[in-house]
Amino acid sequence: MPGVVVVGSQWGDEGKGKVVDFLTERADVVARYQGGNNAGHTVMFGDRKFVLHLLPSGIFRENKRVVLGEGVVIDPEALLEELDALSAQGVEVGDRLYISDAANLVMPYHKAFDKLREQWRGAGKIGTTGRGIGPTYEDKNARRGVRFCDFRPGYEAIFCARLKEILEEKNVLLRSHYRSDEALFDAEEICERYAVFYERVKPYLCDTSVLLNEALDAGQTVLFEGAQGTMLDVDHGTYPYVTSSNTISGGACTGCGVGPTKISRVIGITKAYTTRVGEGPFPTELKEGPVAAMLQDRGQEFGATTGRPRRCGWFDAMVVRHAARLNGLTDLAIMKVDVLDTLQTIRICVGYRDQQGNQYDTIPHWLGNYGGLEPVYEEMPGWNEPIDGITELKKLPQAARDYLQRLSELVGVPTLLVSTGPRREETIMLGDF
Ligand code: GDP
Ligand code: IMO
Ligand code: MG
Repeated sequence: MPGVVVVGSQWGDEGKGKVVDFLTERADVVARYQGGNNAGHTVMFGDRKFVLHLLPSGIFRENKRVVLGEGVVIDPEALLEELDALSAQGVEVGDRLYISDAANLVMPYHKAFDKLREQWRGAGKIGTTGRGIGPTYEDKNARRGVRFCDFRPGYEAIFCARLKEILEEKNVLLRSHYRSDEALFDAEEICERYAVFYERVKPYLCDTSVLLNEALDAGQTVLFEGAQGTMLDVDHGTYPYVTSSNTISGGACTGCGVGPTKISRVIGITKAYTTRVGEGPFPTELKEGPVAAMLQDRGQEFGATTGRPRRCGWFDAMVVRHAARLNGLTDLAIMKVDVLDTLQTIRICVGYRDQQGNQYDTIPHWLGNYGGLEPVYEEMPGWNEPIDGITELKKLPQAARDYLQRLSELVGVPTLLVSTGPRREETIMLGDF
């Protein structure tokens, strides 16, 4: 099987890390294609738990190669910290890690601007992770980004002069608009600091598009690991409450330099309910009440990157159907079904209605700006018994199987995998992979 994309179908944190780790056993290479350390991907097996922010979730499987493609924005300091932390826990990445030397770097001023802009927006803030991701993509698209290949030995003076030019503009903005004197940046100091990071990252740098295409041409299986989720995609999500990259499956091609003909399968990772971190519309959100509290508590819905509580609500078939179309989903992985164990009745959103009573069966693009859509629900009986850790479909109560069947039917995509607990082992496979 050649290229397989694993993509979030909601607002992120669906359980991509768990699925990528699980499927890597049957793959050869795992590549991240967008986002940066705004991601937090949890992998658990046996009694071990890891949260990855930059490194692909295939890293725990021996002999598998992992890649950070051109589309990923990399904070080298965060990357090195992650490598050191893993090494301290006995996980050696060694020569299995490959990083594109064309990947854009998160610079100290990107992190400063991310925080200052959010403060400046006040109540209208996006609720970013504060990792500098948006400002890094802004500079990349404005053609003033910094890439690993800029640190080419012998060209230090040229690079530093270019950074000085970039910083002139940044510092004017900091001083005049944000009235921030403390956060002014010095090119020499940054050049020196980043040269040290570069020396440590250098052994991993290469043209990862060449590596990935060679692997695909040799018939190897490459998993493309998405970060965030479809509803956070900069073009197709709840804009402007989105991240700054193309999170959808097409992003795997642009972000890794592989053609669309190399992708044969797209697996949509889907929570059996819905969560969102940060601001922005969320039609099926339960703002208060016992079900909201139960989802938060049983689902342990706290951000893996920032620790913020995640907003929780019912499954929204409008959202996942939108994801099925945008990503060309061939399979679903339905996660955290065990979290719903205690419910008598479960609701599923099957449409939206506005204040004038108009019905919607697709998501309008103005939802991010204006909100105001109410969900239309259907109800199903819950199973009201523990299913955590079950690994065979036939052992699930009939009501749980009916619920899973209904989700797949509403979304129009068959289910490959059902997850009944956070650990690698707590997984039901329904199809071939
Ligand atoms: P990602 O960003 O998509 O990789 O997801 P996160 O790691 O941010 O969040 C998913 C959370 O749910 C993590 O804490 C996982 O350990 C946990 N998780 C994943 N699958 C299951 C499951 O089937 N049941 C339960 N109870 N927890 C799960
Ligand atoms: P994973 O890969 C959930 C959200 C932030 C904010 C918006 C923009 O773990 O699923 P950014 O820092 O990217 O500019 O923030 O996107 N966000 C995520 N939400 N999971 C993530 O990643 C996220 N990465 C960013 O909360 O609303
Ligand atoms: Mg996450």
